[in-house]
Amino acid sequence: MNPQESTRPPRRVLVTGGAGFIGSHTSVLLLEAGYDVLILDNLSNSTVEVVAAIERVAGRRPDFVCGDVRDGALLARLFARSAIAAVFHFAGLKSVAESLAAPLDYYANNVGGTIVLCREMAEASLHTLVFSSSATVYSASHAPPLSESSPLDPAQPYGRSKLMIETLLGDLAATDPRWAIASLRYFNPAGAHETGALGERPKGIPNNLMPYLCQVACGERPELIVHGNDYPTPDGTGIRDYIHVMDLAQGHLAALDYLETHPGFIAINLGTGRGYSVLDLVEAFERVIGRTLPRRIGPRRPGDIAASWAAVDRARELLGWQSERGLEAICRDAWRWTCTGCPPRS
Ligand SMILES: NC(=O)c1ccc[n+]([C@@H]2O[C@H](COP(=O)([O-])OP(=O)(O)OC[C@H]3O[C@@H](n4cnc5c(N)ncnc54)[C@H](O)[C@@H]3O)[C@@H](O)[C@H]2O)c1
Repeated sequence: MNPQESTRPPRRVLVTGGAGFIGSHTSVLLLEAGYDVLILDNLSNSTVEVVAAIERVAGRRPDFVCGDVRDGALLARLFARSAIAAVFHFAGLKSVAESLAAPLDYYANNVGGTIVLCREMAEASLHTLVFSSSATVYSASHAPPLSESSPLDPAQPYGRSKLMIETLLGDLAATDPRWAIASLRYFNPAGAHETGALGERPKGIPNNLMPYLCQVACGERPELIVHGNDYPTPDGTGIRDYIHVMDLAQGHLAALDYLETHPGFIAINLGTGRGYSVLDLVEAFERVIGRTLPRRIGPRRPGDIAASWAAVDRARELLGWQSERGLEAICRDAWRWTCTGCPPRS
């Protein structure tokens, strides 16, 4: 949408982690919807070039501050400088495997960062927050589909950091009726912006399947390692609910609209409601690129579970949102990004 066509009055939002994968795509939609966007990102898993790419795609430039969400004095200055209507809190560490090796980093960054952010928001009388949670908060022993009332029992520190944050956000909303907080439990975000100008570019070895597949397809990695083919699933590989990042981004705008009239705390799944196995995704990707890729079966990864997909009724009923794009669009857009937009690795 052309920003001039937007019916919204200009409103400024803070997007922590906005240079990252999901934050950058959401920032594009926010700018296109007429919001002014301030991105705060410490670039620990992204680059400043993403900000220029957001501007190219959206036709408007977000403001950008390189800094850490745990820096309370910085947040206080940002909140004092201009009125902020809401915060989208993407900043955090996200690797399940890394969290097993370095749990303190995960609790310090994810939980510690959210505490500092909420303190400074409260100081600035700012109480609207959309938080990036994860399907890893659910118990691995509960069979999918996973609804928001399914048992919570994360299997690793990453998921536990998300559950701790949800708990503290729920406590916070209970103490002050001005808080309006949506905790969005993402399933498996993948894909890229359809222009090919924005996408996922993790530093180091990708933890997620799609960027790994893209790197194998363009020769950056010799082969795909499928982590386990002895799960109790039809083809033995793990099943996940892959959701296109643009659908996910759209869900954030729907959540913000919802919060305008619904104070309190609510957790909402953002997924497609359909599970695909690792091999389903690999084969869909191979169809899109027109060739097969070298792959071998490796051991299971610690912390991984057999199958996970979302029950999506709450998002549909409360947000009026549902995913629109399928596996093919996810693969096609991720590959276009890899071929056209993704800067070469140094
Ligand atoms: N991608 C997924 O598979 C997935 C799934 C479920 C939930 N999430 C959550 O969604 C959020 C965004 O994920 P993403 O895939 O875009 O990750 P990402 O790593 O691409 O983006 C996170 C951004 O936050 C920044 N950041 C990290 N710590 C920071 C800090 N202390 N201060 C300021 N900036 C900081 C990073 O530099 C990065 O740009 C994360 O909180 C993640 O846990 C992601």
